[in-house]
Amino acid sequence: MTEAGPYAWCGDELSEAEFQAITAVLHTKRQFDVGAYKDKCVRRRIAKRLRNCGAADFRAYLMRLEEDPEEVDALLEAISIHVSHFFRDPGTFRCLERDVLPDLVAQAQEAGRHGLRFWSVGCATGEEVYSLALLMEEIDRGELTIEILGADISSPALENARRGRYDAIRLKEVPSAVLKKYFRQDGGLYQIDDRLRHAVRFERHDLLATEACCPQSDLILCRNVLIYFSRAEQERILRQFATSLSPFGRLVLGRSEIMDGSSARLFTAEFPLERVYRRSVGGDRPGEMIDHAKSTFPGDTNAR
Ligand SMILES: C[S@@+](CC[C@H](N)C(=O)[O-])C[C@H]1O[C@@H](n2cnc3c(N)ncnc32)[C@H](O)[C@@H]1O
Repeated sequence: MTEAGPYAWCGDELSEAEFQAITAVLHTKRQFDVGAYKDKCVRRRIAKRLRNCGAADFRAYLMRLEEDPEEVDALLEAISIHVSHFFRDPGTFRCLERDVLPDLVAQAQEAGRHGLRFWSVGCATGEEVYSLALLMEEIDRGELTIEILGADISSPALENARRGRYDAIRLKEVPSAVLKKYFRQDGGLYQIDDRLRHAVRFERHDLLATEACCPQSDLILCRNVLIYFSRAEQERILRQFATSLSPFGRLVLGRSEIMDGSSARLFTAEFPLERVYRRSVGGDRPGEMIDHAKSTFPGDTNAR
C-alpha cells in the first residue's frame, strides 16, 4: 500500500536492504536489537515513522538518522507501543488484590522477611505500577516494606510515569472513591497523589540486553510486552524471570500471552485465566539459587 501525498515513497513495507540499514543504525547508535522483535510488526512501525518523518527518500532518512539523535529517539519510540491504562484487565487486578498480594504478604511474614519487591517491566507510562501501589494501600501488611519498581526501555515513557499525570481515559477502570482519594484534577488531567508517586521508582531496563540482570523480586508483572518478541527471546527472558523470582514469587503475563515451550516447565499456572504463574516446585531451575534476603533492586545502595 502507498499513501497519497509528498512522502508516499514509503509504503507499509520496507525492502530487506532498507530494513537491514535501519537495523544497523539502531544497533550502532543505541545497541538496540531490532532483530529480536517480531518481524512484521516492527517493520510496519518503522515504515510508518518513515512515512511521517518528512524525509524525501530513504537515503535522506538514513542521513538524518546519522546526524540527528532526536530522530533516532523518535524511531525507537515509533517501534515501542506504550498503550496502557490503570487496572488494565480488571480480572487480573481483582485476582492480585484478593489472592496474590495477601498471600505474598503472608508468605513474607512467615519467612521472617522485612519487605517485598515488585517489578513491573514494560510498564510504559506507569499505570500498572501505580495500580499495584493503589492495591497495596488497602492491604494490611503490618511492618513489611514494599518496593515497587517500574521499568521500560523507553526513557520518554518513564519520564511520563514519574510525572504521574493522566488523561481521564487512562483512569476509566479506577473506582470513583479511589479516584477521589488518590488523584487531584489539574487542568484536563489527573495528578496522582505525591505520596504514592514517591512510593514507587522507575528505571530504564532493556529486556533484550542479555547482560542486563532482572532484579530479584517477589512479583514480576510483564504484561503485553513479550508478545512483541521472537519466541527465542521470550524463552530466554522467561528463564531469567524464573531465576530472579523468590521461592513463593509470582509472575503475571498479559491476557494474550500464553506460556509454552521449554520455559513452561519452570512455572505452574496458578490462575490460568488471569495469567498468574508460580515458580514450579522441583521443576528445572536455571542458574544458582539466589539469596533473596540479600538481593537488591537496581539503584539500591545497601544490600538488605
Ligand atoms: C503495550 S506496552 C505494555 C504496558 C503495560 N505493561 C500494560 O500491559 O498495560 C509495552 C511496553 O513494552 C516496552 N518495551 C518494548 N520493548 C522493550 C524492551 N526491550 N525492554 C523493556 N521494555 C520494552 C514498550 O516501551 C512499551 O512501553
